[in-house]
Amino acid sequence: MPSERTDFVVIANRLPVDRVTSPTGEVQWRTSPGGLVTALEPVMRRHDGAWIGWHGAADEELQPFEHAGMHLVPIPLSEQEVQEYYEGFSNATLWPLYHDVIAPPEFHREWWDSYVAVNQRFANRAAEISNEGATVWVQDYQLQLVPQMLRELRPDLRIGFFLHIPFPPTELYQQLPWRREILEGLLGADLVGFQAPGAAQNFVRLVRQRVGHKTHRDTVYLPDGRTVLAKAYPISIDAEGFESLSRTPEVQARAAQIRESLGNPRTVLMGIDRLDYTKGLPQRLRAFGELIADGSVQLDDAAFIQVATPSRERVEQYRILRDDINRLVGRINGDVGRIGQQPIQYLHASYPREEMAALYRAADVMVVTPLRDGMNLVAKEYIATRWDNEGALVLSEFAGAAAELKQAYLVNPHDINGLKQKMLEAINASPREMGRRMKALRKQVMENDIDRWANDFLTELNEQRDPHGKTTRPVA
Ligand code: G6P
Repeated sequence: MPSERTDFVVIANRLPVDRVTSPTGEVQWRTSPGGLVTALEPVMRRHDGAWIGWHGAADEELQPFEHAGMHLVPIPLSEQEVQEYYEGFSNATLWPLYHDVIAPPEFHREWWDSYVAVNQRFANRAAEISNEGATVWVQDYQLQLVPQMLRELRPDLRIGFFLHIPFPPTELYQQLPWRREILEGLLGADLVGFQAPGAAQNFVRLVRQRVGHKTHRDTVYLPDGRTVLAKAYPISIDAEGFESLSRTPEVQARAAQIRESLGNPRTVLMGIDRLDYTKGLPQRLRAFGELIADGSVQLDDAAFIQVATPSRERVEQYRILRDDINRLVGRINGDVGRIGQQPIQYLHASYPREEMAALYRAADVMVVTPLRDGMNLVAKEYIATRWDNEGALVLSEFAGAAAELKQAYLVNPHDINGLKQKMLEAINASPREMGRRMKALRKQVMENDIDRWANDFLTELNEQRDPHGKTTRPVA
């Protein structure tokens, strides 16, 4: 691996691992939460290059290091930057704004200043470690200014950007006081990737209206002759790796043990999400509680496991949600449970990949019902583990994954009666119907895996022509 400079750089807010110090002072590395890391880790293991990101702890400067076959370059954040750039502008301004304002976005000028300063730090570091003509791939909403900042420092670089979350409708995006700066930041890239074609179209329209550049279909024409392409690349997972893991005897034994500990009910339903207000947890739990309460599903026959991975715990809206879910689970279990029989098993914890695979294997019905989601990789992971074509997926229409996973039980998560009906259909599906749907879902996920996603994006990025029409560099 490169000791100094490299030809391929990924920049994301987070490194794939967090540095955690135990109360006894012992330092450990723990897999970072979220879909971005799930998707990009296998990509980075297969490419030579460096991953620039924050290591999850405030006020700590670390040297670059090797981890699980990856070269990681930590970026320090001060406690104040964690509050203003990460919890503030990234997760209390942009996150809610880009997710259909499910929670109200907050606009604070000092948060913006911190966002600019931290984006500049990431760009500076990438400029330092990139070889002449290197490919740099910037990830997600926390770093939308980096493409332009980096281009100013290093015009020789090939710069790609990928947004992992939805891009908001024009009317909502316009609320952002720094809307023009962000569009200009993104236009520093040669290729801007989105999860869905509609998002790419929104972006191009906004560039035309707000920045005034000429556009045609998916291309933006800049005054200096450079062009920027905006297209959709639906992200995926290491499908084969996940399937193999789920086939191991250890994972299968653990799956059986999980079912056993629930008393081997006829149907195990499951939700696995970061604890986030975009994920639609209250609606889903209420729907299940009502199915038990009205007798559509018998308490003896079904159990619902809801795993909620802790996330952004100091941000106000996440604190409120955590309390709401605790209350709701308590109320439902109190109302419809019996001694020794709680219909909802609620786990506020994060688990390693092996345990996740066992949970998926233990689930007959996977319930993935976000109110809004860029893609949702939990849905794809579940499918990858269903190599026997058994199991059913209830999926929100508002997850990016719904565009590809049409054979799932698609549902509007705001419609509690609709949710109940789809969950019931999935619970009562015949093995034949289940198999038919799962087979089609598996074909989609196994064929369109993460290697294909990375390859499609990087090929397009490297084929983007310079203003004189020459194709440059091969794929990284
Ligand atoms: C989503 C975002 C990622 C983010 C992840 C976890 O998947 O798209 O950029 O890393 O959530 O959130 P966190 O704030 O813990 O990094």
